[in-house]
Amino acid sequence: MTEAEQPEGVANGEPEKKSKRSVRDRADAIAPFRCKNLIAVIENPSDIKNIGTIIRNVNALGVEKVYVVDPDRALTDDWQEMREHKGISKTSVSAVKWTFLRRFDSTGDCFDHLERKGFRSVVTSPHVKGKASVYLHEGDFTAFTKLAVWFGSEAVGISDLAVARSEMCVSIPMFGMVESLNLGTSSGIVLYEVTRQRRDYQSKFRLRGRRGERETPLPTVMPVRDLRQRQG
Ligand SMILES: C[S@@+](CC[C@H](N)C(=O)[O-])C[C@H]1O[C@@H](n2cnc3c(N)ncnc32)[C@H](O)[C@@H]1O
Repeated sequence: MTEAEQPEGVANGEPEKKSKRSVRDRADAIAPFRCKNLIAVIENPSDIKNIGTIIRNVNALGVEKVYVVDPDRALTDDWQEMREHKGISKTSVSAVKWTFLRRFDSTGDCFDHLERKGFRSVVTSPHVKGKASVYLHEGDFTAFTKLAVWFGSEAVGISDLAVARSEMCVSIPMFGMVESLNLGTSSGIVLYEVTRQRRDYQSKFRLRGRRGERETPLPTVMPVRDLRQRQG
């Protein structure tokens, strides 16, 4: 699937038939806001609803791809079949149609692939883990050109292997009695901050290493008139 084929097919959570033209217009409008070289990875998720929620969050926030570590083969390798998976389609409110999704047999396979492509990883956990542990608002998510953000399973959280092969562990500060946030919910919070920072960076610099600074930064949110068009 090319980037241009990944606009939203739904608005406000309700599936709607759109003409090819309006889909193309929307794809063109959102393209500059999407975060390049950013992948969300879900490790061993057990609840299809969480997979759907993460795909929806990824699509809405402009993350490039979703990888799923799926040792039990709950998903298929065939992308077309994945798009038509009833559970994922329903829980992602059809965002799966517009989102690049790929499964891996193991955490190791997924890291091998990411590292071959030059991606660095950060993991997320409610607990302090690994060589560096930061609160979400303290993290710099623009330091690596290619970044994968890992989320752990509902029951056991992120694996030791994922922690060991990552640069740092990111925590959302919590102030309640519960031990953790829900997987889908935490993905929305973390990816909001990561995409906010990376969009801001993309708007100011053409190249990495803070080189190629633009004279006028690009907008980091959709212009209001596009929102109006969308509502209309
Ligand atoms: C339900 S939690 C897993 C809880 C598990 N007992 C543990 O020790 O991590 C599922 C996933 O959501 C994410 N998560 C939940 N709460 C988080 C928080 N406060 N900060 C960062 N990530 C969190 C992490 O990716 C975690 O692996």
